[in-house]
Amino acid sequence: MARAVFLVWVLSVILATTNLAQGLGVNWGAMASHQLPPKNVVQMLKDNGIKKVKLFDAEPSTLNALAGSGIQVMVGIPNEKLEKLADSYSEAQQWVKENVTKWLGSVSISYVAVGNEPYLTSYNGSYVKTTYPALKNILKAIRESGAGDKVKATVPFNADVYESSSSKPSDGRFRKDIKNNMVEILRHLRDNKSPFVVNIYPFLSLYQSPDFPKEFAFFEGGSKPVSDNNIEYKNVFDANCDTLINALKKEGFGNMEIIIGEAGWPTDGDKNANIKNAKKFYDGLLKKLGKEEGTPLRKGKLEVYLFGLFDEDQKSIAPGDFERHWGIFRYDGQPKFPMDLSGKGNGDQMLKAVKGVEFLEKQWCVLNSDVKNMSQTDAELNYACAGSDCTSLGTGRSCDLDQHGKVSYAFNSYFQTRDQDVRTCNFNGMATITKNNPSVGDCLFPVQIVNTGAPRHGAVGVAYAFSIFVGLLWMMI
Ligand SMILES: *[C@@H]1O[C@H](CO)[C@@H](O)[C@H](O)[C@H]1NC(C)=O
Ligand SMILES: *[C@@H]1O[C@H](CO)[C@@H](O)[C@H](O)[C@H]1NC(C)=O
Ligand SMILES: *[C@@H]1O[C@H](CO)[C@@H](O)[C@H](O)[C@H]1NC(C)=O
Repeated sequence: MARAVFLVWVLSVILATTNLAQGLGVNWGAMASHQLPPKNVVQMLKDNGIKKVKLFDAEPSTLNALAGSGIQVMVGIPNEKLEKLADSYSEAQQWVKENVTKWLGSVSISYVAVGNEPYLTSYNGSYVKTTYPALKNILKAIRESGAGDKVKATVPFNADVYESSSSKPSDGRFRKDIKNNMVEILRHLRDNKSPFVVNIYPFLSLYQSPDFPKEFAFFEGGSKPVSDNNIEYKNVFDANCDTLINALKKEGFGNMEIIIGEAGWPTDGDKNANIKNAKKFYDGLLKKLGKEEGTPLRKGKLEVYLFGLFDEDQKSIAPGDFERHWGIFRYDGQPKFPMDLSGKGNGDQMLKAVKGVEFLEKQWCVLNSDVKNMSQTDAELNYACAGSDCTSLGTGRSCDLDQHGKVSYAFNSYFQTRDQDVRTCNFNGMATITKNNPSVGDCLFPVQIVNTGAPRHGAVGVAYAFSIFVGLLWMMI
């Protein structure tokens, strides 16, 4: 009897642990005006069987919530901190002590991400000199603390650190302006058995090049493959990964472990950023992970961190309005669309919501219906949007509204961002609070959640990625 019970237990453990697609992790950014309670988020990760999470900082509230969860954590160091860490070893020791070793008894910290896409072209080289010395100091501090076997340090790079001279993956090479620095980092990663982390965004290929063959951004085939030394590339994700592998080979690091630090698709703020395309991208990516097919040059298991968990309404929209809509969950922890995390397509592991989320009162701030002269509302609309998030407004986006609707959306966004403070629903006497939900169709007028934290670091600037390679690639197709 006991043996039978034991077998059932073993079986259930095996079943419970094999449902999730191999190598799946998630990015947890926190640049939102309203934070979900970290404990509830961690419970959601557990409910979904997610065992790897990547952060952009090392906030104690997040690490506390992750304590005892068994979830593998990558903590992050923001780019602004690199200079200090490069200049001062004791600063690096302090960072490791406070943000790694202190937690190791309860939090499974496996990686420290030193900077975030520090060689991005749009940073104009600001972090090129400091990244490697900072990495060296952090690694040394980890090793001296005795945690070197458990914790690795690496640098998440954007895919724009490499390119292809001909547009074929086999001509992949690192960008000239950073190549020497990159080789130093690669040597260090290899000597310390640390992985190369790269962020890959097929959405941006499409966003940046109107002529990019749309289907090549997804995984279903349907666009002309790119032939390269008897390999047929059917999607840009594979082509991009293999461009990196060829670039690594060229410098003598062909066997280096690779982790995809970010991959995802936004759902609003651009004509190609919508639920339908996001679902198509994730379905394809998860199936690929489920089948453990890897890429043509690197078959098998692939480790991929989805970007990201939640929409972040305080991210810079310099790269594009879609920046605030990368979440697989809405701001309130609800999945935006069904997603089978098993990658088997059998509905075994459907994405589950964050539970126990508390909302503010069910009320909205809208434009008074007796305001008829719309030209008077322009200034108020601009003011409201400047102080909140209006990136869902516009043609081809979720809120394609008339002028009255737009103004109401903006007023409500401003009001909710400020925790429904009644003084923020005035707008020269043109606004009013209503209990009638003004949402229409796919256009959600949000009611904010009860805020449980301060806004923090998230990924920035991804949209400048990968333009050189992409530009060349579509030209040859
Ligand atoms: C540890 O990380 C936190 C959160 O990212 C940061 O605020 C703090 O300054 C870090 N500690 C040190 C000693 O740098
Ligand atoms: C990089 O240079 C461009 C053009 O000179 C400038 O507009 C941009 O603000 C710079 N970015 C950073 C991060 O320094
Ligand atoms: C509408 O408002 C604008 C700006 O306040 C004003 O110039 C215009 O005369 C008004 N139109 C009518 C029909 O009242």
